[in-house]
Amino acid sequence: MKIDESRIRIPAVRRGARTVRVVLAGCGTVGGELVRILHHAADEIRQRHGLHFELVRVLVAHGGRPRPGELDRALLTTDVDAFLAAAAGADVVVEAIGGIDPALRIATEALRGGKRLVTANKALVAAHGPELVALGRRHGGRLDFESAAAGGIPIVRALREPLSLTGITSVRGILNGTTNYVLSRLEDGWSFPDALADTQARGFAEADPSRDLSGEDAADKLRILVWLAFGVEPARLQVRRRGLGDDAERLARTARALDGAVRIVAEAVRTPEGVTASVEPVLVAAGGDLARTRDEANLVVVDSRWNGRIALGGPGAGGGPTASALLSDMVRAARRQRAVHPSSAVPPIPDRRPHAWAVGVERGRGAQEALGHTLARVGINNERMAWTGGTVAARTEPVPWARIGLAVRALESQGLTPAVLRVDADA
Ligand SMILES: NC(=O)c1ccc[n+]([C@@H]2O[C@H](COP(=O)([O-])OP(=O)(O)OC[C@H]3O[C@@H](n4cnc5c(N)ncnc54)[C@H](OP(=O)(O)O)[C@@H]3O)[C@@H](O)[C@H]2O)c1
Repeated sequence: MKIDESRIRIPAVRRGARTVRVVLAGCGTVGGELVRILHHAADEIRQRHGLHFELVRVLVAHGGRPRPGELDRALLTTDVDAFLAAAAGADVVVEAIGGIDPALRIATEALRGGKRLVTANKALVAAHGPELVALGRRHGGRLDFESAAAGGIPIVRALREPLSLTGITSVRGILNGTTNYVLSRLEDGWSFPDALADTQARGFAEADPSRDLSGEDAADKLRILVWLAFGVEPARLQVRRRGLGDDAERLARTARALDGAVRIVAEAVRTPEGVTASVEPVLVAAGGDLARTRDEANLVVVDSRWNGRIALGGPGAGGGPTASALLSDMVRAARRQRAVHPSSAVPPIPDRRPHAWAVGVERGRGAQEALGHTLARVGINNERMAWTGGTVAARTEPVPWARIGLAVRALESQGLTPAVLRVDADA
């Protein structure tokens, strides 16, 4: 096809640039990468957006640590009060420290001072998002947090834009790159300790990966997405949460026995009564979208009454994608683009819906009989029984989680350690 080049619109190159004064709290994986991007992409930011971001103060915990070569070390401070004093004269405050303290103090003071605050901190937004947004509104400030959920995927934006997604019925996906990377390595035949060590060596897992493995990290991100999709206050959402823990290898064998794969799936569904939410190991169809999301990738699938299904995939973790999401929020904040917040609240409720489950036990003496008898005793029909290596796995009829809990306790009382996966509707 011949392209008529005269019809291609090229963004105008802007010559003058407005200077935007930025203070940055945190210069670790994410903050350090933001410093590098601001330095190396300065011309592009000036040309495309007419902005020049000038770093005026950088808060860290340890003054002597190595920092990116692009950073002027004279900007560093370890004094939160000195940082807040500099923030009072800045246009945009960026928070990439993590945790609640002192991030909450910085956020509160910035928003009370009418500043535009950009944060990558999912724990902070999941615990205090609505009150911080309200505080910003009262004082003429604003809060942006694109990088706090599925960092490199513009899902927060998609849910925040007015009318871009209407009548949402469910939000589901893979929101934790660390557990997904571990599961991908287990599929390749690695042991759990080796898989976890590799994840850490590649910088996808924190030194303490417990919040990733337990599903808490994914639950924080799900709380943020549910807030934006359904208006449920994140701190009130009840999330049924199970992570990878000690039974990652057993979960992988159970899934393999039933010809599927394991993914830690975060899911929120709107029912007529309210919103149910879970983060748990799920048996997904081999070759499906979830199983094909491997390594540190994230995938978010939104079903809506009017838009049908949209899926957004991409890097969920890592300094580069997260810092670039921070930058896009900084541009929006500097341009004073409107942010939309949900106001209609749907009540959060526990998940009492029936699901099919996969239950796997190690194939010792009598394990297969014990699994079959125990499921029968608690009144759960077994639709399929299969074996692989040392694991025998059953796929059950659809029952609510509480009924599977009974079977798990009965198996444990016989000295067995069952691995339990919810079976995905497509598997
Ligand atoms: N890493 C990712 O892939 C990723 C992805 C999405 C979102 N996030 C979020 O981004 C945020 C930052 O994560 P990160 O991975 O960049 O963490 P990090 O590498 O541990 O960096 C944290 C930074 O904050 C500073 N800091 C920590 N406690 C402080 C305190 N009490 N006072 C002053 N400074 C303090 C640290 O200073 P020192 O350097 O001196 O220790 C460090 O520069 C977190 O909210 C995280 O959840 C991270």
